[in-house]
Amino acid sequence: MRVLGIETSCDETGLAIYDTARGLLAHALHSQVRMHEEYGGVVPELASRDHIRRVLPLTRQVLMQAGLTPWELDAIAYTQGPGLAGALLVGAAVACGLGYALNRPVVGVHHLEGHLLAPLLENEPPAFPFVALLVSGGHTQLMAVEGVGRYRLLGETLDDAAGEAFDKTAKLLGLGYPGGPALARLAAEGRPGRIRLPRPMLNSADLDFSFSGLKTAVLQWARDHVLDHETRADLAAEVQEAITEVLESKALAAVRSTGMTRLVVAGGVGANARLRQRLDAAAKRAGVTVFYPRLEFCTDNGAMIAFAGALRLAQARRDYGFDVRPRWDLA
Ligand code: KG4
Ligand code: ZN
Repeated sequence: MRVLGIETSCDETGLAIYDTARGLLAHALHSQVRMHEEYGGVVPELASRDHIRRVLPLTRQVLMQAGLTPWELDAIAYTQGPGLAGALLVGAAVACGLGYALNRPVVGVHHLEGHLLAPLLENEPPAFPFVALLVSGGHTQLMAVEGVGRYRLLGETLDDAAGEAFDKTAKLLGLGYPGGPALARLAAEGRPGRIRLPRPMLNSADLDFSFSGLKTAVLQWARDHVLDHETRADLAAEVQEAITEVLESKALAAVRSTGMTRLVVAGGVGANARLRQRLDAAAKRAGVTVFYPRLEFCTDNGAMIAFAGALRLAQARRDYGFDVRPRWDLA
């Protein structure tokens, strides 16, 4: 079965074709980062309009890459939520229109389920069950994953997401949008530990997170000190240490609490090199195996939606409805 995947939940238009027999046949992405950059964040109306411009050319592009006509598609999957309503509607409209014209099933995919299952696209995929650390711009969650569609929430952030903490502190340091990669680059020049920031909820008995205090701590520190390049680099390094230490500690605690031996990391912050370094080291000590998607599939993409759609269709889930869910809990 060949599934076209369409991702338009935020600021990337992602298209892909996944074949259940042959794997990923094609994928293409257009990032709107340059467009939103000058506003310091995603402008929803601009995002929707750009998805409209990009979605059909990218659809043609993946069909060409895969050497297929639209009639050779067996199903269409699209991101149904969560995300920006106007942006989601573009993907939903195209998916439902194509499904109707081709008389093929259409399935609405949960964006986080896409992220969560993305590591299964790799050569040595994790077996179920596993603990998933979902770290994106909008979500920070620990999930026990027993199988496709069988998710149990173990803990989540009580305020900002980890990606948001990267983005907001990056903004305070005068770095561009998106802040995560920019902050990580500056952190590489800095000395962690020279400035000391809090590790919110590091020692709380639960598996929840809180990151908003970090932003306030950086703001206060920046207000009381002169921020030359060296100091900004030291601050960036310490922010990255604080975020990744908490993520590492809670992820490993989640693995211990479930008795599982596999940890899957997904979402944009999963691309962070320091986080990967920390998790790899901690997992090795604990006898746990960590799985990551390839870097380009950590952030938003169409491949994860085509793939999650294919797995959902294998469970006979059909969704012909034209609907988006800007707010939608996975578990
Ligand atoms: O999963 P994603 O592409 O979109 C959402 O579904 O939110 O995640 C985007 C988030 C942004 O907050 C971005 O700053 C962060 O992931 N991010 C990173 C890195 N690459 C992306 N954060 C830290 N280090 C990175 N290398
Ligand atoms: Zn995402």
